[in-house]
Amino acid sequence: MPSWTSGSAALRARWALDPTIDYLNHGSFGATPRAVLAAQGALRDEMESSLVEFLARRLPARLDAVRSRVGALVGADPAGLVFVPNATHGVDAALDAIDWRPGDEVVHADHGYNAVKQALRRLEHRFGVKRVDAKVPFPLADAGQVVEAFAAVIGPKTRLVIVDHITSATALVFPAADLVALAHRHGVPVLVDGAHAPGLLDLDLRALDADFYTGNLHKWVCAPKGAALFWVHPRWRETVHARVTSHGYGNGLAAEFEWTGTFDPTAWLAVPAALDHLDELGLLDVRANNHALVQEGRERIAHALGVSLPHPDDASLYGPMAAIPVPWAKASEGPTLNARLYAEHRIEVPFTGYDERCFVRISGQVYNRPEQYVRLAEVLRSWR
Ligand SMILES: Cc1ncc(COP(=O)(O)O)c(C=O)c1O
Repeated sequence: MPSWTSGSAALRARWALDPTIDYLNHGSFGATPRAVLAAQGALRDEMESSLVEFLARRLPARLDAVRSRVGALVGADPAGLVFVPNATHGVDAALDAIDWRPGDEVVHADHGYNAVKQALRRLEHRFGVKRVDAKVPFPLADAGQVVEAFAAVIGPKTRLVIVDHITSATALVFPAADLVALAHRHGVPVLVDGAHAPGLLDLDLRALDADFYTGNLHKWVCAPKGAALFWVHPRWRETVHARVTSHGYGNGLAAEFEWTGTFDPTAWLAVPAALDHLDELGLLDVRANNHALVQEGRERIAHALGVSLPHPDDASLYGPMAAIPVPWAKASEGPTLNARLYAEHRIEVPFTGYDERCFVRISGQVYNRPEQYVRLAEVLRSWR
């Protein structure tokens, strides 16, 4: 049992979140604790006091130290691990490593993230690459159905499989290890889009054996915005290059990715402060707390909406986020509902779209209280 209570005044005071808003959307933009922002502020002050020392002389060694700590969190060897501004950059770097030919296929779940689908559209326009959707049923009974959906579409033309470790619109945890093994049995490399995974799932990237892995530190590790990781398997380390070329070209992953021109590296350097904050609360306690908030919240909301839950209450299928169907709304109405809920009730929660259907996707974080989900459920009940 943690020594703290979810959503207590003491915990809420650790975040700068506006107390008049029920923020149930840590999944879209993770809120960064004040202590971590203060650490980042101190780093900025240091940078501005001695720019060349900070940016040109000391930065690589300091990033190596952060890399060791993050590597320990995600089970990655430092030689293959670099910092990027966000998961979108990691996906883009992996897509750029492949020597595409017309007719190549990329398998991506229909639950996959829209920005990644746009990156695949671009590949289609440039190289004639085709996206093939693995159609994962939702409602979902078990993880086996996810593997079946991918197995049904991986074929001789598949050049890459992209696995969302945790899906955005439907908040499902996909069985990444099984999917990597499946693709590898077909001789196909795998990019795991783990945008939500660091901090939230136990990761062991070496054991997972994906070809590429990207994940955000600015979501569930609560690091400042602009902190994310990209890991490259040894078999690809000579092939991958940063999309923006600078001084480090050809000098290894860290030299290429961690200097793409002048920028502010303090989000990356403040990651240890975020990890300290998580350690202080207890990583496992945080995960258990957040899952419990969402477990209870999704039941209340489903009851208020008069719908069945779209997957069983199995902790291997979801974590601190859950999507509940909103049967009377279309997927396209999501942004309007989100804006209305915020304007009329000061509740910030996304309405996501999948397969033309609309879902309300709740998140749970230690600054949240069970009453906030009750409030949301009551508003949604009144909108039925
Ligand atoms: C599955 C998935 N991939 C990629 C991203 C993109 O993350 P970012 O905006 O930090 O690049 C997200 C964001 O929520 C996501 O859910």
